[in-house]
Amino acid sequence: MSVEPSQGAGPAIENLLAERRTFPPDPAFTARANARAAIYDEAERDHVAFWERLARERISWSRPFETTLEWELPFAKWFVGGQLNVSYNCVDRHVENGLGDKVAYHWIGEPGDTRTLTYANLQREVGKAANALLELGVRTGDRVAIYMPMIPELPIAMLACARIGAPHTVVFGGFSAEALAGRINDCGARVLITADGGYRRGKEVGLKHHADEALASTPSIEHAIVVNRTGRGVHMVDGRDHWWHDIVERQSPDCPPVPVDSEHMLYLLYTSGTTAKPKGILHTTAGYLLGTSFTHEMIFDLKPDDVYWCAADIGWVTGHSYIVYGPLANAATGIIYEGAPDTPTWDRWWQIIERYKVTILYTAPTAIRACMKQGPQYPAAHDLSSLRVLGSVGEPINPEAWLWYHEHIGRGRTPIVDTWWQTETGMILITPLPGVTTTKPGSATFPFPGIEADIVDGDGRSVPFGGGGYLVLKRPWPAMLRGIYGDPERYRQTYWSRFPGMYFAGDGAKRDEDGYFWLLGRVDDVMNVAGHRISTTEVESALVDHRSVAEAAVVGVKDEVSGQAIYAFVILKAGGEPTDALAVQLREHVAYVIGPIARPKYLMFVPDLPKTRSGKIMRRLLRDIAEGRTLGDTTTLADATVVETIRENTGRSEE
Ligand code: WT7
Repeated sequence: MSVEPSQGAGPAIENLLAERRTFPPDPAFTARANARAAIYDEAERDHVAFWERLARERISWSRPFETTLEWELPFAKWFVGGQLNVSYNCVDRHVENGLGDKVAYHWIGEPGDTRTLTYANLQREVGKAANALLELGVRTGDRVAIYMPMIPELPIAMLACARIGAPHTVVFGGFSAEALAGRINDCGARVLITADGGYRRGKEVGLKHHADEALASTPSIEHAIVVNRTGRGVHMVDGRDHWWHDIVERQSPDCPPVPVDSEHMLYLLYTSGTTAKPKGILHTTAGYLLGTSFTHEMIFDLKPDDVYWCAADIGWVTGHSYIVYGPLANAATGIIYEGAPDTPTWDRWWQIIERYKVTILYTAPTAIRACMKQGPQYPAAHDLSSLRVLGSVGEPINPEAWLWYHEHIGRGRTPIVDTWWQTETGMILITPLPGVTTTKPGSATFPFPGIEADIVDGDGRSVPFGGGGYLVLKRPWPAMLRGIYGDPERYRQTYWSRFPGMYFAGDGAKRDEDGYFWLLGRVDDVMNVAGHRISTTEVESALVDHRSVAEAAVVGVKDEVSGQAIYAFVILKAGGEPTDALAVQLREHVAYVIGPIARPKYLMFVPDLPKTRSGKIMRRLLRDIAEGRTLGDTTTLADATVVETIRENTGRSEE
């Protein structure tokens, strides 16, 4: 991460966009809410005692811990001396408590096939898979790589690893053979669990052939387990490769969970650095389990009869924390959907919500804007009255997208929780609490109880309310990363060196006069126009505020006069006409909403935007396009044809 110290006397990032609409909680919701305003006070009085109480109450320990926190900045140890097993906490204890018949997951394959797994089913499947790993020689501490589509065997494989104390590293199924091999080699995994393929947008997507290519250069891998999902013929290497339906199915379902230390490595998850080598973000056991399960219960107001759907991929941290570990620790009933939201049509998600009476939906702004672009007729055709909480994660949500979500999905009734966190933080850190917090569209509101977040200037000094700067965290939290695998120095350098004594997340943010936090995007994306440091997020939100715009991305391009000039890429809603007159109108709209300094100098209508596979806009590539350079690394791009389409587009409108 490269962060330029802010130059000159101006603020690190300007506060330009003011959103004044507020949504107080519904008193009927408050009356039944899991979260109470008093937990902020309890946590503030003594945050270590707060986490200690929760850890004793919520986790089933094989051996109780002695010390709540050992903090040798930047290295934290939580719940020291304790022993536990995550799969026991996520599965067995619920069966012992009489919840064996409760549904853990309703699974929906893209082609329309379905499966239902109760907690008792999950216990058997996890036990068998764990025994298969043991048969293949995997021992506590050995790493296991997982490269799978969104099928039930994916969480089963993760829990099987946790059962025997073998850290997993899940590699998103959309990644290439090269990315898979790099991650396997970095952590020295002994076994790979994969599948022949999966379904996406009506097509079979092969995985095993990528895995075979990867395994040609991964000397640490001794065995692969392959789930038969699509039935497509794959090559099986004798002695190395085993079908799941052979090696797992013949095992005994009884596999005693191995108690491990609180700080035992639960998993590694690699963040795809766009330039540098991916970082193996290291998460451990007890603090992670506590942080994910407690936030899940409070922030989504989880009740025993809820049907909870986090629509992310399990290959990202959102899926690890809020499809697998947090919800299962809470004995939730969850939905897993294998495929794409537009397959076979754009109302697939709304069909699923209607059919399963989903009560909680957690998704990303990129998905919400994609639905906005298609129009409200798709959700309108379905009964979404079961929904009672909506969540957003992954990027700043533009106020207009927030309001669309509120109106067309929540039907004006449900609270929205805009949750800020990262792969590194493990758990949600900045968020409203439904029933407690008055929300403002586009604001992630306040730090979760026990979390100390601040906004600082280039010298690390706290910025008063009303100003913008760098988002930092000032004390450890239970689910925080414990390091970068194999590289403690890089851990210190990347996260703890920019501002001494503080964790720097890499994000810009501002606080309004009421102390609400507003995330402003990655600081590497901040533009500098005539000495004003302007966040891409605010200009994008001003564009999306216009009724014709579905989505926008802006970047700063070199400019002789102002240093940088703003270049906007705009996607119109279905039916919108990309005319010069509209381009002029949109530029004026930004000037009107934010101020003339933020008026884009250039504007181009595009059919699509380059995004990473997790849905984040790749502004680096847009800068390359805007400045007419050859494109940098495009390997993390979800759809490589998008940049070509944009480049062939010549209709740029200029001031
Ligand atoms: C980055 C972390 C955390 C799970 C998914 C992404 C951005 C995330 C929000 C939000 C504004 C957000 C930040 C952060 N981000 N949530 N609610 N509002 N920005 O995990 O891939 O590690 O990305 O996503 O820039 O640093 P990740």
